[in-house]
Amino acid sequence: MLLRHRRSWDLQERDTTPEALWASRRSFLRGGAALLGGASLMPSLSATAATGPAGGGLADPGPAAGGTPLAGVTPRPDLAAADPLTPWDAVTTYNNFYEFGTAKEDPARRAKGFVTEPWTVTVDGDVARPGSYDLGRLLMGIGLEERIYRMRCVEGWSMVIPWVGVPLAEVLKRVEPTADAKYVRFETLNDPKRMPGQAWRVLDWPYVEGLRLDEAMHPLTLLATGVYGRSLPPQNGAPLRLVVPWKYGFKSVKSIVRISLVREMPRTSWAAQAPQEYGFYANVNPQVDHPRWSQAKERRIGDFLRRDTLMFNGYAESVAGLYSGLDLRKWY
Ligand code: MTE
Repeated sequence: MLLRHRRSWDLQERDTTPEALWASRRSFLRGGAALLGGASLMPSLSATAATGPAGGGLADPGPAAGGTPLAGVTPRPDLAAADPLTPWDAVTTYNNFYEFGTAKEDPARRAKGFVTEPWTVTVDGDVARPGSYDLGRLLMGIGLEERIYRMRCVEGWSMVIPWVGVPLAEVLKRVEPTADAKYVRFETLNDPKRMPGQAWRVLDWPYVEGLRLDEAMHPLTLLATGVYGRSLPPQNGAPLRLVVPWKYGFKSVKSIVRISLVREMPRTSWAAQAPQEYGFYANVNPQVDHPRWSQAKERRIGDFLRRDTLMFNGYAESVAGLYSGLDLRKWY
């Protein structure tokens, strides 16, 4: 398979520009003047998205966007990135979800009609309360929160996304990890009839990701069920996806069907596929380059100029302590 050792998102720096501009082509046309001034190409769209009232407090993309408006969402301004939001259009049409194809536009097109109800999540391993839970039951009573997080992809682009979800820690407490549990392993649905991209062995399906237990219990770690105040569109990982804002985006496993509490570091999909390129921790780090390109800079989708990549994606104050004693160069 062509992606055996190279993913489509393993882009050279020069390759990312047209894609980033494509994602915001309408703003690009409108933003010509800004370009002359060297500023963002989409300030007007971003500002609109960031200020409207709805859902958890943001502009509702409207019924045409699909999904269901989520009620009772508590905004968490204390956790909100101050950066302008990436518009809904870009968040939902520029995706990585290889189960629906490897091009950025594939998931929005090919995941249309992906059925996410009913949805069962199996919880197993070192937990006092293992079982196969209906998703609604697993999350029942845990308050939905809106959190605006930066997301940085290892390809060199980034977005700012208003997720809706629940702290993973709350879900884990509910199932009671035992003292033996050291890591959490997550698995995406494996069903080629429903996920046509799985007909190709781009990866050894199912997509697997993992966290150390303390990372999983960290207050920033979110299980998202929505975005922009609405239930998650399929291309963004409906009905349940992980969001770990200080790590590269590939850790944010989508359409989760299994959560296992385990003793050993899980063998994760990309680390297994290309261990020389992708590590288990995958913390955003401008000082540790990917073997084939620099991570020092990133392009925010919609911007023309690249910006500096922030250590731990700007969340160092909250999470650096998790890694004291760990050689971040070796344990990328
Ligand atoms: N989860 C699954 N199951 N399959 C995938 O291909 N891609 C990952 C991650 N989660 C992926 C996945 C990558 S590389 C990124 S950058 C993010 O999802 C992208 O999330 P988004 O499409 O919502 O922006």
